[in-house]
Amino acid sequence: MERCSNPPAGKMGSAVALISSRKQTVAFMVLLMVLASPIARADVWKEVTNNTQGICFTFVEPLGSYQCKEFSVPTEDGFLLGVQKVSSTKIAKAKKDPVFMYHGIMQGGDVWLLNSPSESLAFLLADSGHDVFIGNTRSSNFSYGHKTYSRSDKEFWDWTWDDLVDHDLPSMLQFVHDQTNETLLFVGFSQGTMTAFASFTQSSVVSLVKKAVMLSPIAYLRHVTAPLLEVAAWLFADEILLLAGVYEFSVENEGGRRFTDMVCKSAQLKCYDGSLLSLITGPNCCMNTSRMPYYTIYEVQSTSMKNIAQMAQLVRSGGFSRFDYGLFGNLAHYRSIFPSSYDLSAIPADLPIMLAHGGQDTLADKVDVSDLIASLQGDPQVILVPEYAHGDFVLALNATTEVYDKVLNFFNS
Ligand SMILES: *[C@@H]1O[C@H](CO)[C@@H](O)[C@H](O)[C@H]1NC(C)=O
Ligand SMILES: *[C@@H]1O[C@H](CO)[C@@H](O)[C@H](O)[C@H]1NC(C)=O
Ligand SMILES: *[C@@H]1O[C@H](CO)[C@@H](O)[C@H](O)[C@H]1NC(C)=O
Ligand SMILES: *[C@@H]1O[C@H](CO)[C@@H](O)[C@H](O)[C@H]1NC(C)=O
Ligand SMILES: *[C@@H]1O[C@H](CO)[C@@H](O)[C@H](O)[C@H]1NC(C)=O
Repeated sequence: MERCSNPPAGKMGSAVALISSRKQTVAFMVLLMVLASPIARADVWKEVTNNTQGICFTFVEPLGSYQCKEFSVPTEDGFLLGVQKVSSTKIAKAKKDPVFMYHGIMQGGDVWLLNSPSESLAFLLADSGHDVFIGNTRSSNFSYGHKTYSRSDKEFWDWTWDDLVDHDLPSMLQFVHDQTNETLLFVGFSQGTMTAFASFTQSSVVSLVKKAVMLSPIAYLRHVTAPLLEVAAWLFADEILLLAGVYEFSVENEGGRRFTDMVCKSAQLKCYDGSLLSLITGPNCCMNTSRMPYYTIYEVQSTSMKNIAQMAQLVRSGGFSRFDYGLFGNLAHYRSIFPSSYDLSAIPADLPIMLAHGGQDTLADKVDVSDLIASLQGDPQVILVPEYAHGDFVLALNATTEVYDKVLNFFNS
């Protein structure tokens, strides 16, 4: 790892010289306050070189026609998120607005890069002249862990979806802004859209964003029928496992197996026949079926049990709210009996939003998507692909003609 940015040490040195006079102490204090925030921010992110496990090395560099850089971006609560910057070397110089792409639950940023360049939105955006920044949530495979805890510590998994709203997304958007000095174009998928809808209710976050594209958009989960979430929610599997002390949710560990076993037995599903992706997203129409084993390796990454639990809570409550710790927990965390809701109407009406959703989606259900649209102040552009289910918006073979060409137009209009 290599540190790429240094605090302006020279400025600090001359600032110290100012204290020679008492009168100037006040001026010094003011100067310190002015310097404090840029120093803190500039000092923290790092460029990561020579990561032979990373997204750049694994998915981008082998293609030969893209430049890719790996960054480690810290959050206030100590996680080190992976962000990759992908630019095309086929075009002279990127002049268009930067794009930030945010994946869904149990995925990493690699989800944007698993198909060929002409079938993958990240590469299409890079080829059309955008610098593309790819976000990776805490604990996903292509992030950089935590400054204190390791994956085997229970503290590493002690976070809810609200932490993605409060920390991960704002940190990454601020990082992209600091890199480019531009407002950015946002693309989210699934839980990436859900996190964005909640974060964008904060003016400090939404002010960094110029336009947003929401693929398989989610706010409400009232009508979910995808087996993993719906069945689990009504079995209260999340509560059973949290009580049993399970912190990490992975389909490969003991807790995850117990969870999927519960769901599979109850729903009488065949769960270990390579249909894991369908278990999470519902059936997809238009993916390359011979690539399913490959997709499943990458697209079933670990997350926290509390993240899954919060999704299950939202299925049960039908709301769009913070984690429900129960009566006493809520009083301790929020000083109120119920967790507060994220107010979708706080997203500025003049933020241009495009929503693309599928007629067969069992996670971003059509009724929930209409409720979401009704909750927004603005008037988003809506694309419905009748044949598509949830995962098709990132992995379908014909997503370029169905969706991505429209995304490029939306960004460039
Ligand atoms: C990266 O690896 C190459 C080859 O092993 C080495 O020459 C180079 O110094 C390394 N760079 C850094 C920054 O570690
Ligand atoms: C962004 O603006 C700051 C302050 O004007 C400047 O120091 C920095 O070099 C700019 N960064 C880029 C990437 O343009
Ligand atoms: C589907 O994936 C296989 C294996 O990667 C590949 O050989 C084939 O060309 C792909 N088919 C299409 C239509 O892209
Ligand atoms: C992701 O990380 C987990 C835990 O470290 C590991 O078991 C798994 O093999 C990794 N998957 C990929 C595709 O790198
Ligand atoms: C994409 O594939 C689906 C399923 O084969 C089909 O119904 C749809 O018409 C295709 N879309 C385009 C633009 O080819």
